[in-house]
Amino acid sequence: MSFVKGLKCRECGAPYPVAPVAICEECFGPLEVDYDYDAIKKVLTRDEIGRRPKNLWKFRELMPLDGEPTVGLNSGGTPLVKADRLAKALGVREIYLKNDAVNHPTLSFKDRVVAVALSKAREFGFDAVGCASTGNLANSVAAQSASVGFPAYILIPDNLEKSKVLGTQIFGTNLIPVKGNYDDVNRLCSEIAGRHNIGFVNVNLRPFYGEGSKTFGYEIAESLGWRTPDAVVVPMAGGSLITKIFKGFGELAKLGLVEEKQTRFYGAQATGCNPIAAAVKAGTRDIRPVKPNTIAKSLAIGNPADGYFATGVISGSGGWSEDVSDPEIVKAIQLLAETEGIFAETAGGVTVATTKKLIEQGRLTADDTIVIAITGNGLKTTEALTLEEIESIEPKLAAFEAKAFGNIAGAAAS
Ligand SMILES: Cc1ncc(COP(=O)(O)O)c(C=O)c1O
Ligand SMILES: [Zn+2]
Repeated sequence: MSFVKGLKCRECGAPYPVAPVAICEECFGPLEVDYDYDAIKKVLTRDEIGRRPKNLWKFRELMPLDGEPTVGLNSGGTPLVKADRLAKALGVREIYLKNDAVNHPTLSFKDRVVAVALSKAREFGFDAVGCASTGNLANSVAAQSASVGFPAYILIPDNLEKSKVLGTQIFGTNLIPVKGNYDDVNRLCSEIAGRHNIGFVNVNLRPFYGEGSKTFGYEIAESLGWRTPDAVVVPMAGGSLITKIFKGFGELAKLGLVEEKQTRFYGAQATGCNPIAAAVKAGTRDIRPVKPNTIAKSLAIGNPADGYFATGVISGSGGWSEDVSDPEIVKAIQLLAETEGIFAETAGGVTVATTKKLIEQGRLTADDTIVIAITGNGLKTTEALTLEEIESIEPKLAAFEAKAFGNIAGAAAS
């Protein structure tokens, strides 16, 4: 049974029937999915959710499908890790990490949006799917389309990290690198979607795709014992994830699953691609597109589709947005790894470094329950890091002791 009422324009509120369209014909605003929350409230209780298997489909009444999900059945359900050592290092009391670096099947939060978009693409009867991607979406569309035998057309900028390219290509998909940046790729995909019957997950299927990101927020609230945090720090590329976590928390309150509370939303970007952070800092909602130049390639969207709404969520919630340099990103990846044993990709370095900056600015304090979004895995962006070369030792005890303890400690141990 579906609880979807239809699509609705986020700008002018015009209603639309459920179809693979993303833009309002009246005002060119983006469309979003609208639900019958009164009906959902009758069936979706904390107990019911608690009884269901640990994946994103435990929130299926709040997902835009007519029938049962058919793709990405094991995505979501990732851990919320209490990060006491990181909190101590940053000088606050309570930090949690929502760790989608271990999401199934491709180790980023994009597995959530793709599970929903491809399940919907099958309901719409598309016989091929596609995406414009900064890397993680490509990995996930390639993997999940392979798992159900969908042909896929995956377009990426031609400067992505090796692991992101290999982690797409391995699935035997139609991978098409494009000479240009993400914004060029995205424009091309809109043109293709206008001409060919392909379900592009973040173009014509965008309203459905975005709904998957809400589950990142639902799971945070459930893991906190049906509570929303005081503050969340979220990496932003197109700006969709942050707005959908906001929508998700609002829905939980509307359904009586959490108490109404104002969570502050903090948006994190790299300084080399900071159009949303720059707008927030300038006190405007008008986004000035930029040409990206940062190691955080997954976040390198210079003209963010949801930038206007992201600034609204950030400023309206009493939050803020900051950006961090490439060296700060690298340092933060290392800090997270050394304090919590979690290896995040560059986007995770962006959120951790931004959290540090926000604490130094006094915007996040020891009174706050802070959740940091870790959205992708560090093994995908290893070329952003240059660690010290390590010399090998002879296979001899003395060589180990000299290396491990130094000569004096080695002598003491023997
Ligand atoms: C690892 C990672 N985190 C965060 C984001 C940002 O997502 P959004 O475009 O919804 O702002 C992306 C987008 O590609 C990503 O790959
Ligand atoms: Zn409209």
